[in-house]
Amino acid sequence: MVNWKEVVEILEPKQGKDIRTSKIAIWDAYEGTPYEEFVSKHKNSNFNEASIGWSNYYPDKDFDRKITNEYAEKLGLKKVHRSWISRVYPGYIVPWHYDVEDDHPEFFEDGITRYSIFITDSEPGQILIIGDKYHFNYKCGDIIKWDKCTLWHCGVNTAFKSKYTFHLIGF
Ligand SMILES: [Fe+2]
Repeated sequence: MVNWKEVVEILEPKQGKDIRTSKIAIWDAYEGTPYEEFVSKHKNSNFNEASIGWSNYYPDKDFDRKITNEYAEKLGLKKVHRSWISRVYPGYIVPWHYDVEDDHPEFFEDGITRYSIFITDSEPGQILIIGDKYHFNYKCGDIIKWDKCTLWHCGVNTAFKSKYTFHLIGF
C-alpha cells in the first residue's frame, strides 16, 4: 500500500522539475505542433495566463518508482508508458487542453489506458474535469479510468492547499 501522505509531505517543499507558471508562455512553445488547436483557442480567448500554474514530479527523480510498479500491477498493466504526479498550486489552474505525445506513437495505440489517482482527500474548490466528467469530493486513493488518453481535460484549484494527482498510462 502506498503511503500517499508521506509522498505528499516529501513533495510539498520540493519544486517540480517541469514547472509551468504564468512566467513561461508555455502555449507559445507549442505553436506549429499538434497542440495548435488549443494554442489558437487560448490566444483568441485572451486567456488569463497569470492563472496558469502547475508542476510535475517524475518517478526515480522525485518519487519511488515502486509506486508506479505497484499501481501498474494493481491495475493489470503489463507495460507502463509514463507516470507522473501533477501539482496544481492554490489559486491556479491547468487550462482546458489535451495531451499530445507526438514523439511516442504508442500513445495513440489501441489498448493504451490512462488512469488518474487522487493522492490526497479533496479540498473544497479542487476539481479535475476529464471530457464531460467532473471529479470533486474525491478521497485519497480514488482511481479514475479515462475513456481515451487524448480527452480534453483541466484542473482547477481554488482551495488553500495544492491539488496532487498521480497519473499512470500503460498497456
Ligand atoms: Fe494534460
